[in-house]
Amino acid sequence: MGSTTTPVTDRRAAVALFSRLRTPQGQADPFPLYARLRSRGAVTPAPWGGYLVTGHDLCAGVLRCGDWLEPDRGWRARQGSGTRWNAPSAREIGNTLPALNAPEHTRVRRAAGSFDRSSIQELGRTVSGIVDGLLDTLAERLRDGEADFADLVSERLPIATIGSWLALPRADWARLRDLTHEQVFTQELLPSASQLARSDAAMAELRTYFMDLIRHRRNRLGDDPVSRWIRTWDAMEPDREQADEGVYFLALFVLLAALETTSTLLSTMALLLVERPERWDLLTARPDLVPAFVEETLRYDPPTHVISRVAGKDLTLGGYEVRADEMVHLMVGAAHRDPARYPDPDRFDPGRDTTQHLAFSAGSHYCLGAPLARLEAQTLLRHLVTRLPRLALVRRPPMAPRVVFRRLLSLDVSYA
Ligand code: HEM
Repeated sequence: MGSTTTPVTDRRAAVALFSRLRTPQGQADPFPLYARLRSRGAVTPAPWGGYLVTGHDLCAGVLRCGDWLEPDRGWRARQGSGTRWNAPSAREIGNTLPALNAPEHTRVRRAAGSFDRSSIQELGRTVSGIVDGLLDTLAERLRDGEADFADLVSERLPIATIGSWLALPRADWARLRDLTHEQVFTQELLPSASQLARSDAAMAELRTYFMDLIRHRRNRLGDDPVSRWIRTWDAMEPDREQADEGVYFLALFVLLAALETTSTLLSTMALLLVERPERWDLLTARPDLVPAFVEETLRYDPPTHVISRVAGKDLTLGGYEVRADEMVHLMVGAAHRDPARYPDPDRFDPGRDTTQHLAFSAGSHYCLGAPLARLEAQTLLRHLVTRLPRLALVRRPPMAPRVVFRRLLSLDVSYA
């Protein structure tokens, strides 16, 4: 059974479904659309070729199995020069950590380092101070009525955290945040030509920014992560230009990976908290449930709804033969509502077992920043429920018309 045998009507139905999924209305509640997709099977052919996977255990299996690869430089080149995979912004992404396969991935991942317990503890103090400042501003604005939680808190905490960690000048933070929103299209499922052009422009500006930063940092090496990466790359790579490229791709991806995803987690978590007063009351009475609330948010509505892989050789998945180089889209947002893995999956329940969720992926590309994202979300939630009186939702948040990366464009709240 292969993609060529898929009835035309099946493909048409999937096209209609994705057209709806890519609208603000579809993004406001994509889960009924996912349920319809799942009713066609845990694996279903994608309208544009390749496959969509909605079964939780199949998604986890693909992520953990070395036969499934990232769409790396070689794969991108094989798609042809006129395709989206070879747009300038896509080629830049093709050089970053999540687009590398072993052995190059192993080498670069080792050079990137990781967040150990002591660095997270140290960052904890920074994050706590940032959260306090942001909640001061939020509380002040709320005195006048409603305030946009997304703008005042969710969008600002991740850039302040990562900006402080990477020692980026504060004056640059807002521009960097805007650029990360602009570049995202090149990582979306079906970007249009004009969206790709926006990504290309943003990526070009980010390259100039980071190359300048690296040049300046070389003159004044400190013990910040960029300085550490410069030292590591210099030891690995005799060619200075190549070393700078290595540092650039790491710094670039860390920034891109750390901002939107974390902002979306913070806004989704706040939305789940303020839309039901009993959830606020529960956390006020049981602050020990904060980590479980964050994990259930990541299960219930993860910031990244799709992760893609390509077949490293001819493979079988859910009864389909997937040929070498064909792409599979792991519909993580849908898989997290798979009743075979999560009983009563549409119920938000911080008491459930979420240890297997795929919000941070799984296997060798497991998110490097997961401890930092958790730290930000848990710190914010703890401070929110202990510092502020109960907040209420003023109106449903508008959603960006995307498929892979969720984004709440605003989140208006008031005192309850
Ligand atoms: C809630 C917030 C976040 C979510 C949902 C998230 C999600 C993900 C996912 C799904 C992947 C894997 C992609 C794949 O398998 O192809 C990933 C990889 C990665 N993430 Fe995150 N991320 C978050 C925050 C962060 C932060 C704060 C950082 C950095 C400080 C970060 C850095 C990275 C890096 C460097 C990778 C590439 C790992 C590799 O390919 O080996 N992420 N993230």
